Amino acid sequence: MQQKPPGHGYKSRITDALQERFADEARFIKAWFENPVATGAVSPSGRFLSRAMARYVNVGSDGPVVELGPGTGPVTQALLQRGIDPSRLVLVEYDPAFCRLLERRFPGVRVVQGDAYDLPKTLGGLLESPAAAIVSSLPLLNRPEADRMALLRDAFELLSPSGVFVQFTYGMISPIPRRVSEGVPFTAEASQPVWLNLPPARVWCYRPASAPVARKANVAQQLVRSIKTHTSRVRDEIRETRDKLETEFRLARDRMRIDIAGRRSRVSEETRANEAAEILRKLKDRPGDR
Ligand SMILES: C[S@@+](CC[C@H](N)C(=O)[O-])C[C@H]1O[C@@H](n2cnc3c(N)ncnc32)[C@H](O)[C@@H]1O
Repeated sequence: MQQKPPGHGYKSRITDALQERFADEARFIKAWFENPVATGAVSPSGRFLSRAMARYVNVGSDGPVVELGPGTGPVTQALLQRGIDPSRLVLVEYDPAFCRLLERRFPGVRVVQGDAYDLPKTLGGLLESPAAAIVSSLPLLNRPEADRMALLRDAFELLSPSGVFVQFTYGMISPIPRRVSEGVPFTAEASQPVWLNLPPARVWCYRPASAPVARKANVAQQLVRSIKTHTSRVRDEIRETRDKLETEFRLARDRMRIDIAGRRSRVSEETRANEAAEILRKLKDRPGDR
C-alpha cells in the first residue's frame, strides 16, 4: 500500500491550521503587551470580518490595493481569496515582527515597514498608479480626530476617483467624523454588524466626493437633523397637551366626586331631619298627649 507523505492528510492539515491560528493569537497578545495602543486588539480579526472588508474591494478595478495594519494577515488572506493578485497588494505594517511574518506567509506581496499615519513618506513614490482601494485595520479610535482626518486626506490623495477607503471598527459610530464641512469631502457607508466576530464589528467604506456632492450631502444631513428636531418638538408638545388634559380630567373627576359625596350627605341630613320631624309630629298627635 502506498504511504501518504507525513503532514499531508486531512487531519494534519486541520492541525496545522489550528497551530497557525494559536501561533497568531500568541503573536498578537505579545504585540499587544509591547504596544497596546498601536496593536489595538488582543487577537486577529476573524474570517467573517476579514471577508466583509475584502468585499468592498472591486476585483475588476485597476491599480494597487493598499492594506494598512495587516498584523498577522487575516484581511490580506481574504483579499487574496477574493481574487486580488498578490502583485497588486501593498501592506503597510509598523511592527517589524509582523512584517517578517507577512513576507514569509504571502510571497509576491509587497510589505512596507513604516507608519501608516504618514503615507506620503511611507509610500512616497512606491505606487506606480492610483490605488483601487485602501483597506485599514488601524485602531483609529486610539488616535485624535485630527490624525484620522489627516489619514483620510492622505489616503484620498493616493486613491483613484472610484477608489474606496475601507475601515473596520468595534465602535457604534463612524471612526472618521462625518461632519463634511470640517474635512475632506467624502461619502460614508456602513455594513451590517459582523456578529460572528469577537467582539462584533462593523465595516465602513469612505469614498471621495466632489465638493458639490459633499455640499448636497451636508444639506441633506442638515435637513434630516432639522426634521428630527421638529418631530421631537411636536412629540414633546403632544405629550405635554396629553399630560395637561389628563390632569384636568382627573381634577374635574375628583371635583365631581366631592360634589356627589356632598350632595349625598346633604340629602341624608335632610332625610334624617324629615324623619325626626315626622316622629315628633306623630308623638304630638298621640291622643294621650292632648
Ligand atoms: C487591530 S490590529 C489589526 C491586524 C489585522 N489586520 C487584523 O485584522 O487582525 C492593528 C494593526 O495595525 C498595526 N499598526 C498600528 N499602528 C500602525 C501604524 N501607525 N502604521 C502601520 N501599522 C500600524 C499594528 O501593528 C497591528 O498590526
